[in-house]
Amino acid sequence: MTNEDYKKEILRLKEKLNVTIVAHFYQKDEVFDMADFSGDSLQLAQMAVQDTNPFLVFCGVGFMGQSVKILSPKKRVLMPKIACCAMARMIDGEHYDTSVKLLEKAGIKKDDIMPITYINSSAEVKAKVGQMGGLVCTSSNAKKIIEKGLKSGKKILFVPDKCLGQNIAIMMGLTSCVIGDGSDPKDADIICYNGFCSVHQLFDVEDIEFYRDKYPDIKIISHPECKPEVCEASDFVGSTSQIIKYIKELPKEQKVAVGTEFNLVNRLRKENTYVLSSTKPECPTMNETTLEDLYNVLKSIEDDKIVFEVLVDEEVAKWAKVALDRMFEI
Ligand code: 13P
Ligand code: SF4
Repeated sequence: MTNEDYKKEILRLKEKLNVTIVAHFYQKDEVFDMADFSGDSLQLAQMAVQDTNPFLVFCGVGFMGQSVKILSPKKRVLMPKIACCAMARMIDGEHYDTSVKLLEKAGIKKDDIMPITYINSSAEVKAKVGQMGGLVCTSSNAKKIIEKGLKSGKKILFVPDKCLGQNIAIMMGLTSCVIGDGSDPKDADIICYNGFCSVHQLFDVEDIEFYRDKYPDIKIISHPECKPEVCEASDFVGSTSQIIKYIKELPKEQKVAVGTEFNLVNRLRKENTYVLSSTKPECPTMNETTLEDLYNVLKSIEDDKIVFEVLVDEEVAKWAKVALDRMFEI
């Protein structure tokens, strides 16, 4: 079947089945175009919860589908590919427990730790955080959530993205450290786990200097998963939806160089937009989902032979929901 055939079939199945398709901004264009809703991680979690269809097909990465299932356990959540975010895979429950133990060894009591996990983490990690009185954040609300966490008077243990944790610390004039970097965690307000996004590590200050030399009036825009020195040298730092909004409000002739995933940057606008890297910043797992996969998963609903359904252990889901709900309360 050609892509055109898949598109026709997907539209037919969408019409026939009680299904909603959502897609993250990093999905391939042809998949993205098939979605009923698109958004950043926070928006997609919110939209999916409000949606009343019994089936939801999530075009994105594993933790996104899991979050919907946790928030709406009765909904049947399917993913065309159970593709895992590489950053989310950098920490599991055992790594989390080891990190807490390391802090205890360094003289910080467990009761004095407020854990915050970036939504880019497994249900298991979210559950551990929920059990310890902590909460979830996304790239669009991380500052707000950390501010709230600090009100507890405890030290923040931020997992898994060290860059997001460090960037918020800089923004708020706080101190941060990364577990294992040799510094004393007792001296830091925000203690970060040593995780990162390999796609957002591609952007460097040299890339910013290159564009500023070439186009002195250019605006440099980056995602908070980029390195702290890159975010500090940028004109704007925001989540994917915040980046889109910021660029839409600029005059068309304004040149911009954007430090985030290629599919989003390429879709922003065709002129005066540059990728902030000489290497194509593609997220391998986001790019795994194809039109054929989307068709197959919809067809499995039609044939009543469901494939790639997202399922989460009940006890894990219960505690992960506590951590997610605490974020939504704020
Ligand atoms: P957003 O929540 O900003 O869409 O980010 C998700 C993500 O995975 C960025 O790499
Ligand atoms: Fe995960 Fe990075 Fe891909 Fe975002 S871009 S889904 S953080 S690997």
